[in-house]
Amino acid sequence: MEELVVEVTRTDEKGNQKLQSFNVPKDKVSTVLEALLYIKENMDPSLSFRYSCRMEICGSCGMEIDGKPHMACSTTIESLKSDKVKVAPMKHYKVIRDLAVDMEGFFGKYKEVKPYIIRDDENGKYESEILQTPAQFDEFIDYSMCIKCGICMAACPIEGSDPDYLGPAPLTAIWRYVADSRDQGAKYRLEVASGPEGTSRCHFVGECTEACPKGVDPSYAIQKLRGSMVKYEFQSLFRRH
Ligand code: SF4
Ligand code: FES
Repeated sequence: MEELVVEVTRTDEKGNQKLQSFNVPKDKVSTVLEALLYIKENMDPSLSFRYSCRMEICGSCGMEIDGKPHMACSTTIESLKSDKVKVAPMKHYKVIRDLAVDMEGFFGKYKEVKPYIIRDDENGKYESEILQTPAQFDEFIDYSMCIKCGICMAACPIEGSDPDYLGPAPLTAIWRYVADSRDQGAKYRLEVASGPEGTSRCHFVGECTEACPKGVDPSYAIQKLRGSMVKYEFQSLFRRH
């Protein structure tokens, strides 16, 4: 019987780390998540990791797989092209236990950018729907595919050296709403993006885009955001004079 050696970086409640290897029968599993579930169900029930949908939708199974952040549920054993795989918790996050990391900081940053439509006519008393043309819809739809997995934050080298940097996913969310013709929160959003921990910290290494499982392209979103910030500054100057 062919086996897959799964080497897991394990962390206990006190922060002690150790490597532990498990031999999983290859014919019983087809993804890294299934291999971890096999270990949990048949070898060590204490192995901790997060998952839910098993189909790259919930965004909860992010982890380092052979040194790069990926979703465990969509990483097939076949794609590993090896009989051994190393799994570890996502970088740039505090480890809670084993492969489960604390996403609180990430969601805090996400919340800061107000990821929802802001309207001047708040209280929602619209006289009719807010219509959009297909072209207006196309402006933001790709960026709304983000599943908030936080993988781009683990891939971003700036996140590693500056934990206060807003990071690729929250900045992409800013662009997603700035590009949405229904949104009127550009002033607030562009102020956040131009703050000291905003787009100026991005060095366009592009690791975020490479790592994103949903093809969101945060690196391009940040470039578009920068362009929009310059345009907004010019418009404000004209308004002032
Ligand atoms: S931009 Fe991509 S990698 Fe980043 S949180 Fe969204 S889906 Fe995940
Ligand atoms: S389990 Fe939901 S994205 Fe992997």
